[in-house]
Amino acid sequence: MKSIKYLKKRIFEAYEQKDWSLIRELINIDEIKYPTIPDFETLGISLTSLNKNVNIGPKNPYLSAKKSDFDIGEKLGSGSLGKIYLVKYKPTQEVMAMKIMDKRKINTEEIKKLVENEIKIHSQIKNPNIVEFYGHFEDELNIYLLLEYCPGVDLYSIEKKLGKLSATEIKKYLIPVVEALIYLKSKNIIHRDIKPENILVCSNNIKLADFGAATYLKPGEKLYDPRGTPDYISPEIVTGNGYDYSTDIWSLGALIYDLAVGNPPFDDITRKLTYRKIVNIDYTIPGWVNPKISDLIKDILVKDPVKRPSLEFILNKLKNI
Ligand SMILES: Nc1ncnc2c1ncn2[C@@H]1O[C@H](COP(=O)(O)OP(=O)(O)O)[C@@H](O)[C@H]1O
Ligand SMILES: [Mg+2]
Repeated sequence: MKSIKYLKKRIFEAYEQKDWSLIRELINIDEIKYPTIPDFETLGISLTSLNKNVNIGPKNPYLSAKKSDFDIGEKLGSGSLGKIYLVKYKPTQEVMAMKIMDKRKINTEEIKKLVENEIKIHSQIKNPNIVEFYGHFEDELNIYLLLEYCPGVDLYSIEKKLGKLSATEIKKYLIPVVEALIYLKSKNIIHRDIKPENILVCSNNIKLADFGAATYLKPGEKLYDPRGTPDYISPEIVTGNGYDYSTDIWSLGALIYDLAVGNPPFDDITRKLTYRKIVNIDYTIPGWVNPKISDLIKDILVKDPVKRPSLEFILNKLKNI
């Protein structure tokens, strides 16, 4: 198998010669079946002309599907814009998860942008530690996302059942999540909603899900729109001073605490009190928490985003537990 670099070179040459059938052939080679927009932009290829001539972009075999093409099974979960069901695509009998988002709830420009981002980002990524995106379609009532079905539960249910998790369990569940975040960072993506509900434990694989708050962010840029779930958001989001990908690292720290102790570190009766605690880094780790886990939490939950450890450092620490 030729290297991706070699294939990209050939695509570029074919593009210069306007050999659209060769481009189509080349992008169907497995490794670059899902070429990303940044890939083509790096090559200096105009997406408009490419899209017009080759029908590239995230593959979406379900664009003209209808809800009636699916047998709808049990409800797998619910969220802010709708529900997730286990479904079977009748023509192929393929089993998948369907996230149905109610268009009546997509009623502001802000929510619309988030849904667009969820589709755009999720359809452009592929990683063993991330729930796969198969395609999407819409009708008058809903937007439907088709996702890899994860037979199992989310980490929230596991935490609820066990109360708290041992260091070995934390290691098992979070190494894949950190690996997923390393992958996302390499694609300039921030997830912005790292929390137990968005981590799926499917058979023996752990997969990061829910790109409903995800966004692209170039290195050096900052974002200002508040996103995420109160218990896990970083102090820089609370204060509105601008944030970058290290907000995901903070949430990961809050998540490690949550799993180890049984409740999030800044838990309080009102959101306002939680935010005050976050900004003041006001939390304590019970003495019985494994010292390696405890040290890792202390390393991560620091106010200055620049002083937080890298994902690679965290991965290494988890591997050595
Ligand atoms: N692919 C999937 N397979 C199995 N369960 C899923 C899948 N995707 C989501 N779920 C379940 O549905 C819940 C809500 O899905 P999610 O994508 O997080 O929606 P929301 O954006 O509304 O939070 C998850 O917490 C999980 O329990
Ligand atoms: Mg979710």
